[in-house]
Amino acid sequence: MRLGVCYYPEHWPESMWEDDARRMKALGIEQVRIAEFAWSRIEPTPGEYDWAWLDRAIDVLGAAGLQVVMCTPTATPPKWLIDRHPDILPIGADGRARAFGSRRHYDFSSPSYFAASQKICTAIAERYGKHPAVVYWQTDNEFGCHHTVVSYSPAAVARFREWLKARYKTIDELNRAWGTVFWSMEYRGFDEIDAPVATVTEAHPSHRLDYRRFASDEVVRYNRMQVEIIRAHSPGRPVAHNFMQLFTEFDHYKVAADLDVAAWDSYPLGALEEQWFAPDVKARWPRSGHPDFASFNHDVYRGMSKLPFWVMEQQPGPVNWALWNPAPLPGMVRLWSWEAFAHGAGCVSYFRWRQAPFAQEQMHAGLNTPDNRLDVGGSEAAQVASEIHTVLAADAHANAAIRSKVALVYDYEAKWLFEIHPQGADFHYPRFAFEYYSALRALGLDVDVVPVDASLDGYALVVVPPLPVVSTDLAARLASSGAQVVLGPRTGSKTQDLQIPANLPPGALADVLPLRVWRVESMRPNVTEPVRLAGTQDANTQDGVARHWRDFVESNDTDPLEVLARFADGHPAYVRSGAFHYLASVFDDTLTVRLFEKIAQQAGIETMPLGESVRISRRGALTYVFNYGDTAHTITHVADDAFVIGSAAVEPQGVAVYRAK
Ligand code: GAL
Repeated sequence: MRLGVCYYPEHWPESMWEDDARRMKALGIEQVRIAEFAWSRIEPTPGEYDWAWLDRAIDVLGAAGLQVVMCTPTATPPKWLIDRHPDILPIGADGRARAFGSRRHYDFSSPSYFAASQKICTAIAERYGKHPAVVYWQTDNEFGCHHTVVSYSPAAVARFREWLKARYKTIDELNRAWGTVFWSMEYRGFDEIDAPVATVTEAHPSHRLDYRRFASDEVVRYNRMQVEIIRAHSPGRPVAHNFMQLFTEFDHYKVAADLDVAAWDSYPLGALEEQWFAPDVKARWPRSGHPDFASFNHDVYRGMSKLPFWVMEQQPGPVNWALWNPAPLPGMVRLWSWEAFAHGAGCVSYFRWRQAPFAQEQMHAGLNTPDNRLDVGGSEAAQVASEIHTVLAADAHANAAIRSKVALVYDYEAKWLFEIHPQGADFHYPRFAFEYYSALRALGLDVDVVPVDASLDGYALVVVPPLPVVSTDLAARLASSGAQVVLGPRTGSKTQDLQIPANLPPGALADVLPLRVWRVESMRPNVTEPVRLAGTQDANTQDGVARHWRDFVESNDTDPLEVLARFADGHPAYVRSGAFHYLASVFDDTLTVRLFEKIAQQAGIETMPLGESVRISRRGALTYVFNYGDTAHTITHVADDAFVIGSAAVEPQGVAVYRAK
């Protein structure tokens, strides 16, 4: 458990560096991330490297006792490189090249950029790979940020054709898998296939899905190239990448498989503003963020990180990039930091040391104001640093790995497939996954977020948000896990090739769940459908509402299904067969929590209903309590002397940590 900071020596006069390093150390910071945007200073002219300034910056940080996270600077190719190789620029869906003048202006498929990246990564890894102060690495910066995963360049299309050839082997097989006979879209050879863009009406969905899969694999390939170079020149130093919050444009599991540390960048206020949340939800948490948002990301990245995951960038104050940028409530920077550790983070690193007075992010806070005084976030970071000692003294393994009783299956292809083939405009996979997660957290449960190919043994409850493609292998693992299994609507509704399964949804799941989905409908946001639980006597009472979507389900006539809730028109809304629970719609939050509570009980898991603003996490011997709300929360049944941080009265934005019995 340690703190870090993002630092840009190239933004400040060298005369400030020593004092900065001294103050970082005094504040309790142990690691400093540098150089991810410094290419134009490292290689000001083609082939001529200026290492002197960076050598001195690293020496200053090292001399102060700080550990350096060295970055490859490939998120910002310099102007001279773009002018030499204009094909580096990605091509948008409109066919136009995206211009130089900000960042991430590169195409993952560009051969010239791949070669230029190999060169700069090798140069940096050779120079600093064995430097005693360089302890960790970061590849690039936020792959995919600013919509940069997919490019429609000639280079990308050429590589896409090769990718298709490797996947389908013959053009006949591709035509069959996609179903190109529809609308006379059949191809005679792979070279006839273009990017699925600029078509008259929607491009073929299977074509689009494969393009997304291909684009994702290009990110994997590009990151792997960097990791291999770093490992060759800097053996034994862990390599990280800083992923983004709830970002889904490439398969993060596959990229993380090549890394040691999956890190992510946590900006809870910007996220609340930018994500799907309804206006009333945005207005409810403007200065704290949604109580489950950072946690969800922590659990996503913990699940894919070989070493403890990190928060590589932690919001320290107002950001600049959302539509509105409120200031965090006093206490929130501390709360967010502790929440990360409570979910198993190895490091929380703040973005950035000092607010920059120039360029795009001049309105983005740092730990220090532009005139170099400690800002609120800086003071809270200092408090966290001193509290870390207290917590580690109470439990040296305070953030050790644990296995939760609950697993939530989370998948990237599901997002792409539903986005390509939504059937209802607001069928937003990350949102529904988040809502299930949030319901579990509101019951006081710790959750492991796992990929579709994870081992499910040992979990008591497995929750599967709408998952279109279910393999026979996953169906079998769910059945043999011994867990209670909750399946969201549309689960098993498509094949790998984005077709309807021959036996209708839930496809392969029908082997273990005797169900047939014979019709579906989507519902606009202001249309809901009442739901009544079995056993609710009064025919006029509703227990909640269904939103967005309805599966019309029936037993596939071998075995009867237990119908545990119905829609107002009598169709089943929630059915059960043995340990499998199928939800035929997305229910409102209260009903979802109620159903999950019941199912958790059936799984033998103790729940602790917490309401909307208090959250708890258990890790090692410690229990952490976080209060996102505006009134104090009282912890009952815990002896005063069990508290390591705080007390039984948890103030708004407060944190308490106690030794569990
Ligand atoms: C991140 C990015 C940083 C900085 C930050 C501002 O997305 O990695 O470089 O731009 O956002 O909040």
